[in-house]
Amino acid sequence: MPILIFLFLLLSCVQALSCNKLDHDSLLSFYKHISSSPPAIPLNWSSTNCCKWEGVTCNPESHVTHLSLPGKHLSGTIDPFLGNLTFLSYLNLSDNQFSGSLPFTLFHTLNHLESLDLSSNRFNGSIESPFFPSLISFNVSNNSFTGSLPSSICITSRFVKMLDFSTNKFSGNVSKGIGRCSKLEIFRAGFNSLSGWLPYELYTVKTLREISLPNNQFSGPVNDSIALLSNLSIIDLHQNELTGEVPKNIGLLSNLKQLILHTNSLNGTVPPSLMNCTSLKTLLLRNNHLGGEISSLEFSKLQKLEAIDFGNNSFVGTIPVSLCLCRSLIAIRLAFNQLTGEIPACMADIKSLSHLSISYNFLSNVVGALRILMQCDNLSVLFLSRCFNDEPVSNDDSLLHLNGFQNLQILSMGECQLRGEVPSWIGKLKKLKVLNLSYNKFTGTIPKWLGSMPNLFILNLTRNHLTGELPREIGDLKALASDDTDSNLSNLALPFLSTTLQYNRLFNLPRGIKVGNNSLSGNIPAELGNLRLLRELDLNDNDFKGSIPSELSHLVNLEKLDMSGNHLSGEIPESLKKLHFLSFFSVKNNDLEGEIPKGGQFDTFTNTSFEGNPKLCGSVLQRNCPSTTPGGQGEILPPVPTAEESETPWYTIPFGLGYSVGFFVVIISLLFRSSRKWFN
Ligand SMILES: *[C@@H]1O[C@H](CO)[C@@H](O)[C@H](O)[C@H]1NC(C)=O
Ligand SMILES: *[C@@H]1O[C@H](CO)[C@@H](O)[C@H](O)[C@H]1NC(C)=O
Ligand SMILES: *[C@@H]1O[C@H](CO)[C@@H](O)[C@H](O)[C@H]1NC(C)=O
Ligand SMILES: *[C@@H]1O[C@H](CO)[C@@H](O)[C@H](O)[C@H]1NC(C)=O
Ligand SMILES: *[C@@H]1O[C@H](CO)[C@@H](O)[C@H](O)[C@H]1NC(C)=O
Ligand SMILES: *[C@@H]1O[C@H](CO)[C@@H](O)[C@H](O)[C@H]1NC(C)=O
Ligand SMILES: *[C@@H]1O[C@H](CO)[C@@H](O)[C@H](O)[C@H]1NC(C)=O
Ligand SMILES: *[C@@H]1O[C@H](CO)[C@@H](O)[C@H](O)[C@H]1NC(C)=O
Ligand SMILES: *[C@@H]1O[C@H](CO)[C@@H](O)[C@H](O)[C@H]1NC(C)=O
Ligand SMILES: *[C@@H]1O[C@H](CO)[C@@H](O)[C@H](O)[C@H]1NC(C)=O
Ligand SMILES: *[C@@H]1O[C@H](CO)[C@@H](O)[C@H](O)[C@H]1NC(C)=O
Ligand SMILES: *[C@@H]1O[C@H](CO)[C@@H](O)[C@H](O)[C@H]1NC(C)=O
Repeated sequence: MPILIFLFLLLSCVQALSCNKLDHDSLLSFYKHISSSPPAIPLNWSSTNCCKWEGVTCNPESHVTHLSLPGKHLSGTIDPFLGNLTFLSYLNLSDNQFSGSLPFTLFHTLNHLESLDLSSNRFNGSIESPFFPSLISFNVSNNSFTGSLPSSICITSRFVKMLDFSTNKFSGNVSKGIGRCSKLEIFRAGFNSLSGWLPYELYTVKTLREISLPNNQFSGPVNDSIALLSNLSIIDLHQNELTGEVPKNIGLLSNLKQLILHTNSLNGTVPPSLMNCTSLKTLLLRNNHLGGEISSLEFSKLQKLEAIDFGNNSFVGTIPVSLCLCRSLIAIRLAFNQLTGEIPACMADIKSLSHLSISYNFLSNVVGALRILMQCDNLSVLFLSRCFNDEPVSNDDSLLHLNGFQNLQILSMGECQLRGEVPSWIGKLKKLKVLNLSYNKFTGTIPKWLGSMPNLFILNLTRNHLTGELPREIGDLKALASDDTDSNLSNLALPFLSTTLQYNRLFNLPRGIKVGNNSLSGNIPAELGNLRLLRELDLNDNDFKGSIPSELSHLVNLEKLDMSGNHLSGEIPESLKKLHFLSFFSVKNNDLEGEIPKGGQFDTFTNTSFEGNPKLCGSVLQRNCPSTTPGGQGEILPPVPTAEESETPWYTIPFGLGYSVGFFVVIISLLFRSSRKWFN
């Protein structure tokens, strides 16, 4: 008798462990629709008890409650039989390659489903009549869903706390419904094609902590009612078509950490009440039509502020002293405004500051500015292009004896019409990787010490008044000669912002030496041939003479070589054909002679690369060489005028600008996509 009871118990126990038959069959049917692509291991769903299968969890009644298969390299479509798992409360298929549309029935039988994560797959089609009465969290981001945003989800799913529709192809106005999600905390639908005004209903959902709707075509104003959502901590509406002003009462949002409104058409001023948002960490207002006196803003309460970007607006006045009191600041960008006055001395106290861009303003006293900023020990990126005008920045002793800027990696001071010699304190910046002093009025020679800067790999001295020879020491630049120096600029990205296209644009800037448009003389030093990592070399529009050193053919990574507008003579070295990556080559307007090399990249260069050299010959110039047509000298074309005086618009200048750009472009912005204007 006891044995029978025992057996009975054992049997029922075994039964309890094996899964429900319908669930088992539904899972198997689901399984049949998936295929896993190598190198993935197919799911090990071979045993009879489906409750033990990988990714499956059952409740004590042997019903499947969880199916969690994220990142398994699974592809295929979702089988409608999944809808038979009526006890399912958690479904996570994130980060696979499932495709096709979602089966309609799924939405009507999964009454217990609380959490649905289908993010990062290849689902398409629209989401029709969602009906998940128990839903709390819904993530379909990073797919290819189309149609209108399924706001009606809120009509049946009253408990939902998180909705993530971002990075799909949803379009049109946001229809009614969102307001019914009275427990909603996170609402994300960025990177879609949504339009119309922000739905008023949204402002009634008091529980909201995050509204992220960037990269859509939303228009109209942000309603003042947003300030009544007292738990809001993230507002991200960047890259839309919003107009009107930043809500005046925004200061009511005491929990606000991120206010990201850049790249819209907002106008008016920055509301003073914003300075009451003491939790604020990120404040990005770049690329709008905002204006007003920036110095009237009182920043001192923003003790947590890490990044501020007011660039590309119309702010006037002086840099506010109260900004210096924000002791958490890592990045400040005020570029492309109409700021005047000097850099306040107190900026030396912002010890956390690592990125600063004030390019394209109307400041004065560059030496004073440098003396102050040198004391910001963490400063690694400094953009001061077209920010001062026509000032001397000589070898000021007060700068030379300071030991500042020891962490500086990018220094851009182009287009300031600065006078004097190339400042020798720059030679002490051991971490400097990028130096842009282009479009100034620097005189004297190019210092030899530049060649011993251990990390320098981009040097831009374009269009100055430099004279003398190009020092052969430049050929010693370590970061251009050997691979072991860290030429990666991406470590300059700020951690709190993600990457974009511009990111690549900045951090892929080619290693280059640009000394074009000066008055350099003498021969081109053969030592340049040591710089085998060099990708761009501009020697154009100087007074270089002698022949082209054949050592340049060692620059196997070279993509651009511009020697136009000099007095070079002799032949074009045949060995330059070895430069397989060369896509731009110009020797125009020199005094070269002989036959233009044939083969390699030389077959791709047109006559513009060579014109203005009466003694050069070759088919590209339609001028026969004496050897091939004995006796014939070929016709002699008149020299083409140099492009020396042609004006380059600032926005086509990648380095100075692109660079300055760089920083926020990439970094601070989550978001740099639009006009090149906010570059600096
Ligand atoms: C598959 O799972 C069963 C038990 O569920 C286990 O015994 C077996 O070793 C697994 N096979 C592989 C290849 O992992
Ligand atoms: C789904 O799985 C991924 C990967 O483990 C995880 O990051 C994500 O948070 C899960 N989703 C939910 C809603 O739990
Ligand atoms: C399982 O789901 C399929 C597809 O939705 C449906 O046709 C079938 O009737 C369901 N089976 C049961 C037993 O509910
Ligand atoms: C949704 O999923 C994506 C991709 O897995 C993830 O990055 C995102 O944080 C999730 N959304 C929420 C609100 O958790
Ligand atoms: C989006 O999905 C793709 C694959 O479909 C993946 O490579 C990418 O990392 C995902 N992006 C995010 C932000 O999760
Ligand atoms: C969804 O993608 C599949 C291929 O994965 C395609 O056959 C189908 O037409 C697409 N459906 C829609 C509505 O775009
Ligand atoms: C979308 O909303 C805008 C304003 O919010 C309105 O003018 C437009 O008619 C709406 N479009 C549709 C298709 O509902
Ligand atoms: C705001 O957040 C707090 C703390 O998480 C919570 O107790 C409170 O209920 C929230 N308020 C609303 C209106 O949701
Ligand atoms: C905010 O919305 C309310 C109600 O729709 C409206 O009366 C008010 O004019 C709106 N304010 C702005 C600035 O759009
Ligand atoms: C802002 O722009 C709106 C039109 O979008 C205009 O009516 C309003 O006067 C402007 N406000 C200011 C301060 O310029
Ligand atoms: C900032 O907050 C203080 C204290 O709550 C309040 O007295 C003041 O009016 C607020 N300032 C603005 C501009 O809203
Ligand atoms: C150097 O600066 C000049 C002018 O700012 C620009 O034209 C050029 O493209 C820059 N060089 C590089 C390598 O970006």
